[in-house]
Amino acid sequence: MQHDGSGRISVQNLSKRFGAVAAVQNLSFTVEPGTVTGFLGPNGAGKTTTLRMLLGLVTPTAGTATINGRPHDQLGNPARVVGSVLENEGFHPKRTARNHLLVYAAAIGVPDQRADQVLSLVGLSSAANRRAGDFSLGMRQRLALATALLGDPQVLVLDEPANGLDPEGIVWLRNFLRAYANEGRTVLVSSHLLAEVEQTIDQVVIISAGITRYYGSLDQLRASQQSRVLVQPADASALVKALQEGGFSQVEPTPDGRVAVIGATTQQIGDLTAKSGIAVYGMQEERADLERLFFQLTQGQYAAAPQYQQQQQYQQPPQQGGWGGPPQQGYQQPPQYQQQQPYQQPPQQPYQQGPQAHQQGPQGGDWGGQR
Ligand SMILES: Nc1ncnc2c1ncn2[C@@H]1O[C@H](COP(=O)(O)OP(=O)(O)OP(=O)(O)O)[C@@H](O)[C@H]1O
Ligand SMILES: [Mg+2]
Repeated sequence: MQHDGSGRISVQNLSKRFGAVAAVQNLSFTVEPGTVTGFLGPNGAGKTTTLRMLLGLVTPTAGTATINGRPHDQLGNPARVVGSVLENEGFHPKRTARNHLLVYAAAIGVPDQRADQVLSLVGLSSAANRRAGDFSLGMRQRLALATALLGDPQVLVLDEPANGLDPEGIVWLRNFLRAYANEGRTVLVSSHLLAEVEQTIDQVVIISAGITRYYGSLDQLRASQQSRVLVQPADASALVKALQEGGFSQVEPTPDGRVAVIGATTQQIGDLTAKSGIAVYGMQEERADLERLFFQLTQGQYAAAPQYQQQQQYQQPPQQGGWGGPPQQGYQQPPQYQQQQPYQQPPQQPYQQGPQAHQQGPQGGDWGGQR
């Protein structure tokens, strides 16, 4: 039977169990043509498992994953419909990049010159005759992407494609994916870093421990978190009372002796405390921060010790719309694993470059070979 040619990815009530591990649980989302969807979650969340089910490499325990209305194994010539890059894709180490692509081009029935086209698309032209086994991690990512593009597919499914890319490469990838979607194609891209894909994506599916934590637009996710002001007063209970009497209802003392206020500006609070004669030693405005929200949505995967939750308590947002409540699942990871979570790394990551980096053209420079 023919597929419907729509370019739509549809995941419906998808589940996968590996023995005792519920890797994916009742996951549903769709990706429309012309859009980029970010598929986000921490390590072990179930991203790769989901993408592998979509690509027909893992059989679901329940539910369906389709492209163009058909499961992957019923797509006819799948390389023309969907191009994919998954984790740890191997290349024949002695084969040059071009030869690798020529083998794949022959297998899916596209002309040889397509190999050079895709090498140029991913900025690898100057490394075309070098052995893939000698490539750096970022160069291998680019070659994997080139392979995915060979069939000029309508749909792109990429598992952590930014891994190993340098800052220039990440900017290039963002622009590339955006442009690809703008041609009316469908892009599903996984990442464990929200900041890496934030500027590129139209909607986001956030999972942890195999469960959907949020599915919707980033704007809605942002809107679900209000900013708040943390006030350090001489007398917290007097401040709470004064604020409530002043008509501010979302007022909460924090464990460290401060008072968190939602729905008031620092100026309003300053005026009110001056009038009430309450000494204030400091005020700090906390802005909605997507990365923090992402952390809060997914951190339940690694069951936190009670005292850790206590410390975190005053950082919880007052209300979060659009997701299924606080994570309920415990997780059997050893405690030291928590320390390795990517979102706890120091902030000087390359993907957090200033906005000027995104003004660069999409070409991203050719590199990787002799100039
Ligand atoms: N073939 C398998 N056999 C047993 N368990 C598996 C298998 N593949 C995945 N799992 C388990 O399923 C869960 C989800 O793994 P998955 O690789 O999908 O996570 P991920 O979100 O891609 O993580 P990462 O960010 O580390 O790539 C993990 O607990 C993993 O150990
Ligand atoms: Mg993975």
